Amino acid sequence: MTLPTPANPGPFGHKQRKNFLFDDNFTNYNHGSYGSFPKSVQENLLKWHNHAELNPDRWVRRELKDALAMVRGQVAEYINCDVDELVLVQNTTVGINSVMRSIEFVPGDRIIQLSTGYGAVNKTIEYICDTKKDVKVVEIQLVHPQTDHEIVHLIEKTVQDHLAKKDGSRFRLAMIDWISSAPAVVLPVKPLTDMLHSYGILVCIDAAHAIGQVPMDLRHLNADFVITNCHKWLYSVRGSAVLYVPKKFQKDIHPVTITAEYKVGGFHPEFAWVGTLDYANMLSIEGAFAFRAQYGDAAIMHYCHRLAVEGGQAMAQILGTNVLTTLDHQIGFQANVRLPIKDIDHSKIATPEYLIEYQQDKYNVFAPLYKHGGYFWTRVSAQIYLELSDFVRLGHIMKEMVEFKN
Ligand SMILES: Cc1ncc(COP(=O)(O)O)c(C=O)c1O
Repeated sequence: MTLPTPANPGPFGHKQRKNFLFDDNFTNYNHGSYGSFPKSVQENLLKWHNHAELNPDRWVRRELKDALAMVRGQVAEYINCDVDELVLVQNTTVGINSVMRSIEFVPGDRIIQLSTGYGAVNKTIEYICDTKKDVKVVEIQLVHPQTDHEIVHLIEKTVQDHLAKKDGSRFRLAMIDWISSAPAVVLPVKPLTDMLHSYGILVCIDAAHAIGQVPMDLRHLNADFVITNCHKWLYSVRGSAVLYVPKKFQKDIHPVTITAEYKVGGFHPEFAWVGTLDYANMLSIEGAFAFRAQYGDAAIMHYCHRLAVEGGQAMAQILGTNVLTTLDHQIGFQANVRLPIKDIDHSKIATPEYLIEYQQDKYNVFAPLYKHGGYFWTRVSAQIYLELSDFVRLGHIMKEMVEFKN
C-alpha cells in the first residue's frame, strides 16, 4: 500500500479543510499548541453533551463512569497498556500536577528537568521545590542538534557527577519530554527511561505531544508516569488528556482536585469525578478514533511526518537557513526552521509582539517563534489539512517579516 506524501497527498491536503472548522481565510500552522478537531469529532462531542442533558442524574450517577471506561479502553489498546492503568484528565498540565503534587518528596530529593521542558511543567517543579523542604531541581541544558546517544550520555553524566558528590541528596524523579515543545524534538524516551531506572530514578514522561504523532507502546516503555494530550495530535476536543499510572503507584496518586471520592473507591473513581464538568470533551476521544479510522494511523502519520520534513526544508531554502535536526526519527509532525536574524536581541524581537502581530495582522497566520542555541527559530506544524505550498507561502512571509533583521 502506498502511503500519502506531500507530492501525492491522496485524501489529505486542502481537500481536508472542509472536514475542519477553520475560517476560510485562515491557515493553521500551529496545530501543535492547541490542536484542532474535525467536524465529525465536534458532532461526537455534541452526542455526549446532549445525551447528558436528557437526564443529568442518570448521566452522572449511572452512565458517566462506564462512558469514561469505554474511552479509556480505546486509548489503552492504542498505546498498549492495561485499561486500569489509565485515567482521563483535562490536560497535561493537570495530569503533571496530579502526579507531582501527590508524590511525597522528602528532604534531599532532587528533580531532574530539561532546559527544553515546557514552561508550565517546569513551573510545577519549581512550586514543588518552593513548598517542600530541601527539595531542589537540577536543570540539564539541552542544546540541539544532538544525537540520541549524546542526549542519553549528557543526562547520565549529570546523574553520575551528582552521585560522585556524595552530599546526601538523591535524584528522585526525572521529567522527560517525549516530544519537546520548542524546539520540537522527539527524544529517545526508551533508552532514557532504562538508563534513569538503572540509577533508581522515577521517570515521568511529559508526552503532551505524543499520542497521534508517534507510535506509543507504554508496556514496552515501562515509564512510571506518562501524560499525553489527546486534544493535540489525536484530534479530540480541547480538554481531553490521558494519565498513565502503573498499579503499584495508584494508591499514592490523587487528582489535583480532591472530591467526595477521596478514599472511597480508589484511583479510578477519584479521577472519574473531579466535580461537575462537561465530560464530553474527554469522551470526544471516541470521535477522534473514528475520524482516524477512515484513513488509518499509518497514512496520517506518514503524511504529516513527510510534510514536516519536506516543508521544513522548503522553508529553510527560502530563508537561506537550515532546520534544527536532519535526524529523521527526531522529527515528528513539526519543523524547526531557523530565521535569518543575526542579532537575536534586536529590539523588535526583544518582546514577541512584533512577530506575532506581523503574522496575524498582515497574513492571518501564526507559527510560534523561539530562541534556541543562539539562534531564532520558528516551529511549524504539519497536518493533514496542509500542503507543501503552505510551507512555501509561510517561508516567504517569514522572510518578509524578518527584513529588519541585521
Ligand atoms: C511539552 C508540553 N507539555 C505540556 C503542555 C501543556 O499542555 P496543556 O496546556 O494541554 O496542559 C504542552 C502544551 O503545549 C507541551 O507542549
